[in-house]
Amino acid sequence: MSEHYDVVFIGAGPGGYVGAIKAAQLGLKVACVEKRETLGGTCLNVGCIPSKALLHASEVFHQAEHIMGKFGVKAEKTSLDLPAMMKHKDSTVSDLTKGIAFLFKKNKVTPIYGTATITNNTTINVACNDGTTQVLNTKNIVIATGSDVMSLPNVTVDEKNIVSSTGALSLSKVPEHLVVIGGGVIGLEMGSVWSRLGAKVTVVEYLDGITPSMDNELAKAFQKVLEKQGFHFKLSTKVIAVEKDKKGHKVIVEPAAGGASEEILCDIVLMSIGRKPYTEGLGLENLGVVLDNRGRVEIDEHFKTNIPNIYAIGDAVKGAMLAHKAEEEGVAVAEILAGKHGHVNYNTIPNVIYTWPEVSSVGQTEQELKAQNIAYKIGKFPFAANARAKAGLNTDGFIKILSDEKTDRVLGVHMMGPDVGNMINQAAMAMEFSASSEDIARTCHAHPTTGEVFKEAAMAAAFGKAIHA
Ligand code: FAD
Ligand code: NAI
Repeated sequence: MSEHYDVVFIGAGPGGYVGAIKAAQLGLKVACVEKRETLGGTCLNVGCIPSKALLHASEVFHQAEHIMGKFGVKAEKTSLDLPAMMKHKDSTVSDLTKGIAFLFKKNKVTPIYGTATITNNTTINVACNDGTTQVLNTKNIVIATGSDVMSLPNVTVDEKNIVSSTGALSLSKVPEHLVVIGGGVIGLEMGSVWSRLGAKVTVVEYLDGITPSMDNELAKAFQKVLEKQGFHFKLSTKVIAVEKDKKGHKVIVEPAAGGASEEILCDIVLMSIGRKPYTEGLGLENLGVVLDNRGRVEIDEHFKTNIPNIYAIGDAVKGAMLAHKAEEEGVAVAEILAGKHGHVNYNTIPNVIYTWPEVSSVGQTEQELKAQNIAYKIGKFPFAANARAKAGLNTDGFIKILSDEKTDRVLGVHMMGPDVGNMINQAAMAMEFSASSEDIARTCHAHPTTGEVFKEAAMAAAFGKAIHA
């Protein structure tokens, strides 16, 4: 069977499915090929959504165990029903992936379930999951195949005892001791889940600080908060091997600079040292599609590869591996294919770590501004001086605004505190409109809200002083 399309998206993650819907809304005939049984990609199936379901549920457990009593709410006895918690996660994922199938139907996107191989710049072969084969003829192809787990050369992820984020989302019991390799986003989010549910968590990080791309001051403060919650960190440490032991596993580590090795005994090891672009089986070698030195599909500013009519977006290309970045690129590429002017402003893509407190940022860090010799002002305000945060016993953290010394234009915003994953969106919007810190300082913020911390930090940047600190 052979079908003709204007564009075929390969991969139904946030890049591919959003791009496919937008392209269809703009009048193009669209198909989206996905090799999983369900739509939504890494994000909905084994990433953003299941991790947030578990982060939320484990935070509720933690609140019941340790916080509710401080508000005068006495629960006789709290206990963990892990299968029920996993069921909540699974049904959240299942409802949302079905939701994408509904959106495809509504927008007339044809889903094709199978593995796509590009045979030339207008033809795709699909080995369908039902055993049949389809040939798709298309004017354009968008590679949106995402990314996959990365491991160390001498460590094999079995998803039972040595797990990636995928295994860590489905453990059948709370680990006694979880050793996390890599102090980045996955390690700290999944570490938080299992720490709240009772596991001892040790994070082994090669560099001398966690979350290395984050503003250094924020990263240090974040580490302290996590230590207060019970996290153990072994920084500037490299993993030599992971070996099976009588009781579980031993992780053999050594100082990154060299020195005596040490063994850490544990029952579960989480490998979270980053992800790599996934382009296997697509046939890119035969077509001569150029990849960069990190295996990412090379694209120009219009998402075009070196082959006419073949585009690429999302985790498979350069830039942050984030669902909302992939979505923006999906929309932009669809607009370009429909003859419009698709564009992504990479300076205003927010980052959020969904621990508690949450950590978020948009724009440049202090270290980045220093490296470019850009003179900047700093405005900071702590959550401890905010009425709403105090009433909710959420006083850890602060907001820092960096603005240009001469023009006062906001260059970066860095936050740690309650619900700053939502609050960072208003900072991104301010930056999108080229706001100065004075613009934010003069914007009325409702009282009492934690959002007032953002306004106070802006006052500190614009006028050198906040009101309430
Ligand atoms: P993907 O979502 O990876 O989708 C690609 C799809 O392509 C996959 O479904 C794959 O099966 C399919 N595919 C690949 N090859 C073929 C082929 N040849 N034929 C057919 N189909 C193919 N990001 C956030 O912004 N916020 C978060 O909170 C967040 N949490 C995360 C938590 C975890 C545990 C993980 C692992 C990631 C998280 N991310 C988060 C990152 C986010 O999931 C990715 O950035 C995002 O999914 C990338 O979207 P994508 O469309 O590029 O690729
Ligand atoms: P990451 O890049 O965030 O962190 C990896 C960490 O591992 C870094 O701190 C790095 O220095 C360290 N590391 C690398 N090699 C090491 C080694 N050999 N030994 C010890 N430490 C080592 O990668 P992570 O956490 O695996 O996440 C992958 C991607 O998924 C991220 O790029 C992120 O964008 C995305 N993601 C986003 C989330 C969010 O937006 N909330 C949540 C989870 C994942």
